[in-house]
Amino acid sequence: MQVLFATAELSPVARVGGLAEAASGLVRALRQAGVALNVVMPDYGDVVLHNETVRDVAVPEWVGQCRVRVGQHPSAGQLTLVDVPGMQRPHPYVDETGDGWPDNDRRFMAFSAVVAALVERDTPDVVHLNDWHTAASLGMMTDRPPTVLTIHTLGYQGVTGPEWMENLPVGRENFEWYGDTNPLAGAVNLADRLIAVSPNYAAEIVQPENGMGLHQRLLARGDHLIGIRNGIDDGTWNPALDPHIPSRFSLLDMSGRDQCRAELRARAEWPSDTTPVIGVVSRLVDQKGIDLLLEAVRFLPSMSARLLVLGAGDAHVASQLRAAADATPSHVWFHDGYDEELAHWIFAGSDLFAMPSRFEPCGLAQMQAMAYGSIPVVTEVGGLVDTVLDADRFRTTGTGFTTAVDVPALVDGLHRAVRAWRHGTRRKSIQRRGMEIDWSWAGPAARHIELYRELLATS
Ligand code: ADP
Ligand code: GLC
Repeated sequence: MQVLFATAELSPVARVGGLAEAASGLVRALRQAGVALNVVMPDYGDVVLHNETVRDVAVPEWVGQCRVRVGQHPSAGQLTLVDVPGMQRPHPYVDETGDGWPDNDRRFMAFSAVVAALVERDTPDVVHLNDWHTAASLGMMTDRPPTVLTIHTLGYQGVTGPEWMENLPVGRENFEWYGDTNPLAGAVNLADRLIAVSPNYAAEIVQPENGMGLHQRLLARGDHLIGIRNGIDDGTWNPALDPHIPSRFSLLDMSGRDQCRAELRARAEWPSDTTPVIGVVSRLVDQKGIDLLLEAVRFLPSMSARLLVLGAGDAHVASQLRAAADATPSHVWFHDGYDEELAHWIFAGSDLFAMPSRFEPCGLAQMQAMAYGSIPVVTEVGGLVDTVLDADRFRTTGTGFTTAVDVPALVDGLHRAVRAWRHGTRRKSIQRRGMEIDWSWAGPAARHIELYRELLATS
């Protein structure tokens, strides 16, 4: 089976958040299962491919000069990199101040046009698109094979001016959006199947309060919208093999975890005592509810817990975190930036892991935390509901603590988690359950293959 898989991010080539991780994990698992995947992504610059060839593609004139390179990436495998005018930038989406590049609409419309052209040039059995950056290609593919769109988030839809409509000759009316053009909305109508990144997100987004304006369109798709939970890449996220952490460990021998714990504390200049450390690894954007956590921080001394945050994103959220860390260095530590190694350390060395998202299509960080024995405290939204069971409600199966999306509930959840953590046998059993679950992509990838097969059989 030949699948063209189009994505704006792929780890480690270009990554901003979970899209990169999810795409690379799924790609690897699908390839291992024998699917021939042609991964097509933007060429943001500085990527060296081996055995590179340049492919001719016929694109509409408005795209301008485009260059398509195909070759082997040392870790991501075979890649097709698409360069169009303005694509090569130091960050895929934003400038150094965190503002979106003003020509993001043009960049990703042009990328989508090249995806459509590649589909017409060498028609695959299935086209698999991800998020708004690739969505407009459905308005540009004439004779199209079966198509799947994965919705990693409805939070970004790529809405832009009405002038773009004329470049979407196929099913143009689907892209109309209150006088503007909405790539994601168009693809929600046009893709043969829609995948939400968790079953609970699939259920949430057909409700007016969570559909971000698209709930009716999504509801109209009936059972052509399904939820498949993301996995995490078990090659990258395995504490027994992880090269990034100070000491490796597994359920059979957890002593290495104590060392990771001590080294993480040393990094924050905290003593190795019995006060639990609550870790956070997150993009700093409104979605992630870091502001709620900052309000909850006032209660940390009484809870006898400490907060250690790694995050990149909004300058405003970063400065609030910096201020909290400066005011109470004994309880709050913050590292501003994207740091792969430190992220691994935090999963391996924190006692609890907080993820107070306002919405969360799936979330990978809570699974990474559980795989490394850090007990998650999460809000009851999206994929967090599918992956974390509250240990006070589910005494024998619980894997963490879940709360409503507000400050008192979060404080209560953190309190309950700290209490359980202090109880040695309870802590160990919650930790063990989280570590025993198979979070890998094997199961989710098999569900994707089933879906591709079903589409092929019915097309
Ligand atoms: P989202 O995609 O909304 O950002 P996810 O939880 O799905 O949230 O995925 C985030 C991914 O990015 C995880 O793999 C997490 O470990 C990683 N990550 C987030 N922030 C950072 C950071 N500042 N440094 C390193 N890794 C990060
Ligand atoms: C998005 C979502 C996140 C999800 C990730 C990968 O960034 O915010 O919840 O895990 O995509 O699908």
